[in-house]
Amino acid sequence: MQYGYFDDENREYIITNPRTPVKWVNYIGTLDFGGFLDHTGGLQLCKGDPALNRITKYIPQLPSSDFKGETAYLRYRKPGDTAKEANLISPYWLPTFNDYDLFQCHVGLYYNRWKTEISGFSFDILAFIPQGGTEVIRQYKITNNTSEVQQLEFFPVVEYSHFDALKQLTNADWVPQTMQSHKIDFEDGRGAIASYAFMKRDEAVNVLYANRPAIAWETDRKRFLGDNEYGTWREPLALKEERLSCKNAVRGDTIAALQLDLGLLQPGDSVSFITLLTQGESLESIPRICKKYMSEADVSAAFSELSAFWDRYLSVFKVETPSEAFNSMINVHNPRQCYTTKMWSRYMSLYQLGYGSDRGIGFRDSSQDTMGVIAQIPHEARELMEKLLSVQSQDGSAYHQFNPLSMEAGRGDSLEYEDRPHYYSDDQLWIVLAVIAYLKETGDYAFLDKTIPFYEKDREGQPIENGTVYEHLQRAVNFTKQNTGKHGLPLLGFADWNDTVNLPTGAESVFTANLYGWALKELSALADFRGEKKHKEKYDSWYDEMKKTVLEKAWDGEWFVRYFDEKGEAIGSNKNEYGKLWLNAQSWALLSGFASDSDKGRRAMEAVQTHLATEKGIKLSWPGYNGYDREKGGVTSYPPGAKENGGIFLHPNPWAIMAETMLGNGDRAFSYYNNINPAAKNDIMDEYECEPYCYAQNILSDEHPQFGLGRNSWLSGTASWMYQSSTQYILGLRPEHEGLLFDPCIPHDWKEFKIERKCRGAIYDIRVENLLGKSKGVRSILVDGKAITGNLIPYFTEGRHTVEVIM
Ligand code: GLC
Repeated sequence: MQYGYFDDENREYIITNPRTPVKWVNYIGTLDFGGFLDHTGGLQLCKGDPALNRITKYIPQLPSSDFKGETAYLRYRKPGDTAKEANLISPYWLPTFNDYDLFQCHVGLYYNRWKTEISGFSFDILAFIPQGGTEVIRQYKITNNTSEVQQLEFFPVVEYSHFDALKQLTNADWVPQTMQSHKIDFEDGRGAIASYAFMKRDEAVNVLYANRPAIAWETDRKRFLGDNEYGTWREPLALKEERLSCKNAVRGDTIAALQLDLGLLQPGDSVSFITLLTQGESLESIPRICKKYMSEADVSAAFSELSAFWDRYLSVFKVETPSEAFNSMINVHNPRQCYTTKMWSRYMSLYQLGYGSDRGIGFRDSSQDTMGVIAQIPHEARELMEKLLSVQSQDGSAYHQFNPLSMEAGRGDSLEYEDRPHYYSDDQLWIVLAVIAYLKETGDYAFLDKTIPFYEKDREGQPIENGTVYEHLQRAVNFTKQNTGKHGLPLLGFADWNDTVNLPTGAESVFTANLYGWALKELSALADFRGEKKHKEKYDSWYDEMKKTVLEKAWDGEWFVRYFDEKGEAIGSNKNEYGKLWLNAQSWALLSGFASDSDKGRRAMEAVQTHLATEKGIKLSWPGYNGYDREKGGVTSYPPGAKENGGIFLHPNPWAIMAETMLGNGDRAFSYYNNINPAAKNDIMDEYECEPYCYAQNILSDEHPQFGLGRNSWLSGTASWMYQSSTQYILGLRPEHEGLLFDPCIPHDWKEFKIERKCRGAIYDIRVENLLGKSKGVRSILVDGKAITGNLIPYFTEGRHTVEVIM
């Protein structure tokens, strides 16, 4: 069943049935002030830190029928009727659940727009946060489509969380004793509801206000719902009264509800108004900050600015291919998700609840996330890379995570086992790929000379050592070089990319060996480009050494093994009963290039096709472990077919796509792409459940009874790698040091496709003809009408350039 459709022209997905299998959300604002809206009007909001400055109370585990964070009610009646005789509807359908004639939630680029028709009224609601702003704006327009005059009142409602989001859940004594909410009046006759925890009164005050006066207000949930809270959100008893109580809340469960008198509305007429939710730094500041976005003109100016940002963002890479679902993802939805993962790391989503103040930004995840936005927002990507580099250790390894506000770093879950290493063997290597991708995109080689401290501090809290960015990258590979095990492969540390396989000290990782290989390839090419012969020779020799080790020690006969445990036994071998075959050990043998010039790469990917590929995505491993085993760690905590235990973990799927393009298998690469494309699942949403406009982190596999069910949408490395795999490997346009490499690997039946790409100040209009029905291999390229040799398009610094390609 479908719950909506894609409107590519307007860059929206339109949800037309609100009873989606789970809430479908959309991000607004930034980490500085932002969160997400759900399609029924709910709002999860924080400022700066989801754990320590949470604003709305949005608890995803509660049923979908519950209202969460923010909602609104319209009360209408015939003139002269009493409040008890009035009718109540919510423009968002929930929480009043009236029958609707139209429900549309337009999921846009960092905004939602609702168009609903309920009980003879039509609602048009635009919700967003202005660029760099600290206000959630909701602009409402209500039209009376009934044949009678109606007397209208509107009630926007926000339910607050304690600023300490976890305390809200764990302490029902201190929290309610500290929560307060009251009205503040302004000189212009309007007013606002200020809500805060007592200790934040002079620091962080949440404010709900509107651009018209409120005739009454409520601050306390108990009074609003009524009957000692046996009243419900569906029918709050306070809305049976003429006026809300106009009482302050000096403790308890705080809300802010305004009663806006919209007056009499003639048939066919409309009324518009604006509500805003923000946070001020003190009570005194409130009258001043509540003057913003008072007019529709202000709101449309702010909205135009937001649209202009996205116009710019999306203009960097545009594509036209024969696949609609592919175009939709590349032109709109995938880049939006990349922007979102870069912003939010794994902080706050419907699934990652942002309660841990120490979790913040993950080193490995964010390094990869930056790679999905380098072309669009290189400066922001670089800024995040600098932060990441500043939590790298002097020994070259990296702290696993850090809090972006305090810049305090931690070792994450690796501390759980005292007798195991407290580092992750892959973390520091990702930043090598990210920084070098940034250099290739921008040509900003001066970045390599920038000095950034290593994380360790002296007693005064000053960094003990600084190093250039180049030095940081070199230390990253040095660390891996110096920490190898019995077979000469990198030691696993606490874990590698697969967080959940935690083996006793001494285990080795084939994945990390390959990631190290890719990083070395990049450092060698960089050294070559800079004419640093010695560096190049060094990295080439390290590369050759690891390549030999992987090919000789990790080959199991039909595929590569994934780990060696502390005893030197293989995991991911045909000899194992469970976990015989692991995807990443195969795909990465091609990504590193270790297996590119032998038959092993091809055979490894055949094994993937035979044992791991399903029509709903590729499984991470097979067969799943069947029972908890502390020796192996978290992977065995899942039933077979779920998450890292033989589930379809989406993040590694694009790596398989990239490996297939390296082998020249365009049809297979594209079918792997399509199998997990959420836009291609729009007809089977009852099975898949998550949003069709962004990637989920995982899908249950064929080893699980609920094969096909997606979970953990939005904040996943899938976004960045799907974007990279499709733009740089399927479409094949890859910035290199000397030029834009064009090496597509497409389905053979694509007769033509077009790309528009901005890079280093110039625009490339690329048109590709594939009349012979090939998957890979470019026969000729004309740049501005002149033939070039090979497939490296030169960099220009300005202007528009045509590139005509024949495959
Ligand atoms: C989660 C983590 C990521 C890890 C992956 C596989 O997505 O955020 O860091 O690589 O799981 O375990």
